[in-house]
Amino acid sequence: MSFRPQPSPPARPNRCQLFGPGSRPALFEKMAASAADVINLDLEDSVAPSDKDTARANIITAINTIDWGKKTLSVRINGLDSPYWYRDVVDLLEQSGDRLDQIMIPKVGCAADVYAVDALVTAIERAKGRSKPISFEVIIESAAGIAHVLEIAGSSPRLQAMSLGAADFAASMGMQTTGIGGTQENYYMLRQGAFYWPDPWHWATAAIVAACRTHGILPVDGPYGDFSDDEGFRAQARRAATLGMVGKWAIHPKQIALANEVFTPSQAAVAEAREILAAMAEATARGEGAAVYKGRLVDIASIKQAEVIVKQFELIAG
Ligand code: COA
Ligand code: MG
Repeated sequence: MSFRPQPSPPARPNRCQLFGPGSRPALFEKMAASAADVINLDLEDSVAPSDKDTARANIITAINTIDWGKKTLSVRINGLDSPYWYRDVVDLLEQSGDRLDQIMIPKVGCAADVYAVDALVTAIERAKGRSKPISFEVIIESAAGIAHVLEIAGSSPRLQAMSLGAADFAASMGMQTTGIGGTQENYYMLRQGAFYWPDPWHWATAAIVAACRTHGILPVDGPYGDFSDDEGFRAQARRAATLGMVGKWAIHPKQIALANEVFTPSQAAVAEAREILAAMAEATARGEGAAVYKGRLVDIASIKQAEVIVKQFELIAG
């Protein structure tokens, strides 16, 4: 390890973030009753420009009146290139109570974007005497966002999570795609006539995970648009989990159970991790740094890998 220790991310479950448009208040009670760890009430791209004011009012009423249980309650504001975002922040912070946990800032392109929202939020918190500081999450969904991902991850002590937004990201990068996340038909390798479809999101995912882990932030996979395709969602989510992400968005209630399934370490994975820890405890007692577990090498690094799985399981078990 570096002399500078790696900071721990916030110790809260973030397996599934369920989205709902602020202009569809009929969904809010259903969202609150769902099994998602995080709720994202949306003011941005699922709300038409003519509905922005109504959606804002709907969301403020919902924050103040609905029982959101233990969920992390987040609102996605409009982008900093829009005329709406300042009003989103001002109304949310002046009119909603302490139940609001987090603000999601979309299309962040540089650390200064987060700085601007931080300055406004800080001023309103002081003016209104809000006792609970609002946390932030951001979406990396542009070329500038991914190019500046490390500075964005270190931009504010309020920052708790960072998501990859595949659709806007693809558009900004000029990728020739239309699907939201998942396998892309034209991104393939050929070997002796056989097709193989690699993961076009791999690089961005790994870059986000590295930036997040450096700064103690939760890395999250964004939307999977085809909510009729459970196996496609699972495959995308499993790749993200394998690369270090802790959760994924749901843009339809069908996807909640799938995300919770993938991002909760399985009983088998936890049992194996505990066996590795036990094997290493015995090795340590013998004064050895390495051991053999099921015919393969385990060493001190294996303890850390196994602890990732056990700690994630214990965090979710509560
Ligand atoms: N949260 C909670 N419940 C939801 C929901 C959501 N986001 N979306 C749909 N439901 C409910 C419906 O009300 C319906 O409930 P019912 O069985 O009690 O009638 C049930 O789930 C089935 O819904 P369905 O008819 O399949 O979906 P729909 O046509 O009403 O809506 C979408 C489909 C995709 C438009 C809708 O799910 C949606 O708006 N998702 C979020 C989009 C979003 O926020 N995007 C921004 C982030 S990318
Ligand atoms: Mg987007």
